[in-house]
Amino acid sequence: MAQQKTILRALAGETLPTPPIWMMRQAGRYLPEYKATRAQAGDFLSLCYNPELAAEVTLQPIRRYGFDAAILFADILLLPQALGADLWFVTGEGPRLSTITSADELAKLKPTEAIHDTLNPVYETVKILSRELPDETTLIGFAGAPWTVATYMIAGQGTPDQGPAHALKSENRPVFDGIINRLTEGTIAYLSKQIDAGAECVKLFDSWAGSLQGDDFTNYSIKPMQRIIAALKEKHPGVPVIAFPRGAGTKYVGVHAATGADCVAVDDGVDAAWVAQNVQNDGCVQGNLKSSHMVTGGDALVSETRRICDALSGGPHIFNLGHGITPDANPENVQLMIDTVRGS
Ligand code: CP3
Repeated sequence: MAQQKTILRALAGETLPTPPIWMMRQAGRYLPEYKATRAQAGDFLSLCYNPELAAEVTLQPIRRYGFDAAILFADILLLPQALGADLWFVTGEGPRLSTITSADELAKLKPTEAIHDTLNPVYETVKILSRELPDETTLIGFAGAPWTVATYMIAGQGTPDQGPAHALKSENRPVFDGIINRLTEGTIAYLSKQIDAGAECVKLFDSWAGSLQGDDFTNYSIKPMQRIIAALKEKHPGVPVIAFPRGAGTKYVGVHAATGADCVAVDDGVDAAWVAQNVQNDGCVQGNLKSSHMVTGGDALVSETRRICDALSGGPHIFNLGHGITPDANPENVQLMIDTVRGS
């Protein structure tokens, strides 16, 4: 049967007259309805593990805006938690985890099969969404890429330069490689279950890929993503994968071929016209409006949105921001971006 959903058509390599659109962090604190449901859940992690409420916040931006895709509501740090790390969120600061930096701590992580005990509610959320989403909306599952998740497991929190992870990589390579391997295996198992539950596409977020230089970028961003994608393609042929090595800059060239991804998501550090010449020539691309336009709006939002659509109109393109929308964004600017992309 011919593929009807616009996002899946773009992912299959089709150039569409109007690019399909969704937005990173589309379910989030810029929306009053999200804040209300999060308050009902109690806290962020309780929301992630409550299938009814997690499905509700996933659906909110679809109801309000009619995005072409819904992204499962969860977090990249649920996998380390399922592997046995303690995880909590400090309001106004971000995530905190118990750290893993030694062979002993690595050995104490739970076996891959055990992650589902913790992650089952996430699969339940996917099942609810695949029943409740409109027929034209694509359901995207996701996980963090191993390097990015490792930076949080090693430091125990977000870090500006991923210093602790880089330090462990140079001081204790066997433990560092062990963490990357456990995350690679865990991510394959996690995404595979999301697909079994109804995810139609999955995305790998390598948010801190930009701090990997030279061979480290190949070995710790590209190769783990390539292993994950190869394993998923074997188990679930035909389910497209989006790779997002954020901050890769000129290293975005060749990422489709090197990882096997169907689509490469680009951040706003690269120019759309450059992306058209150097990345989109290899396949579908996603991106890349600066998320600050969702705060500032106005003519600049409209002209930048048009410029990106025009620059990428010669090949398969999914419109998105270059990174997640921020809590201070104005919901009306999101509507303005969508109207501009759809030409009304
Ligand atoms: O995009 C979506 O709408 C889907 C859900 C989603 C969340 N986090 C919800 C969330 C996705 C795909 C993520 C990915 C994620 N989580 C990444 C990679 C993408 C990126 O932004 O680079 C990272 C690095 C994390 C880890 C994480 N989770 C951090 C650093 C924070 C705190 C930052 C903040 O804004 O407070 C979170 C919390 C988080 N994850 C929120 C949401 C909606 C805010 C939590 C809240 O409601 O208070």
